[in-house]
Amino acid sequence: MQLAGQVGRVLLTCVIWTAVPVLLWSDFKLAYVTEHSLYMCSCVHGLAPCGVINSSQCNCDDRPLSTLHRGDSSGPVHKRLTVWYTSPLHVALLLNNSEVRHLSLVRCKAPGPRGASYQYFTVQRLERLTVSYWQGELGHSVDLGPHTEEERVAVIHTSILTGKATLKAYTVQTKVDANGVLPFPNICMSPAGLPATAVMFVTFLY
Ligand SMILES: *[C@@H]1O[C@H](CO)[C@@H](O)[C@H](O)[C@H]1NC(C)=O
Ligand SMILES: *[C@@H]1O[C@H](CO)[C@@H](O)[C@H](O)[C@H]1NC(C)=O
Repeated sequence: MQLAGQVGRVLLTCVIWTAVPVLLWSDFKLAYVTEHSLYMCSCVHGLAPCGVINSSQCNCDDRPLSTLHRGDSSGPVHKRLTVWYTSPLHVALLLNNSEVRHLSLVRCKAPGPRGASYQYFTVQRLERLTVSYWQGELGHSVDLGPHTEEERVAVIHTSILTGKATLKAYTVQTKVDANGVLPFPNICMSPAGLPATAVMFVTFLY
């Protein structure tokens, strides 16, 4: 009986799978970021970290790297985003001023001699950050809790992209001034989306 139930469930899953592939298509959002290229993909399911991106499972969009140097405009908005990367610099440029709830960063090779030329990038409304290296050691994860009504922004130090062994976080509550600027003179972020005089929670991840 139990086996029949399982078969039934598998069959049902298959029926759903073939009936609504378009819905499933968007399950796994992946950015693949190297020194020379940037792909944004939607895949039917999760893939082995830094593995083959199979075109029968993923729909990818090849973006020119010049789109990373867009200056002030906002980065991508995603509920969940996985980033496989070999270029910490391009990851910082891609994610700066983005909005991602669950962000997973997977480093696909040992860091090169050239570090990132920026010290940090900012991500709005972050709830969970996971950092890992595809070859082995367990990754690190920081949970900031579900996003509620408050405004929040994460300031992520680029050293965590280059294979730092630990991941730490602290959060401060502060206020955006009348010009929409945070009281951290060293931290530049796009003023878009920072409501003037709002209370903000700023989390530093390093
Ligand atoms: C891509 O996936 C399909 C179906 O899962 C499989 O038949 C094919 O061999 C895969 N191609 C590569 C290059 O892995
Ligand atoms: C992030 O954006 C801010 C403001 O738009 C900018 O000043 C800063 O240089 C950017 N940093 C990166 C890593 O792109």
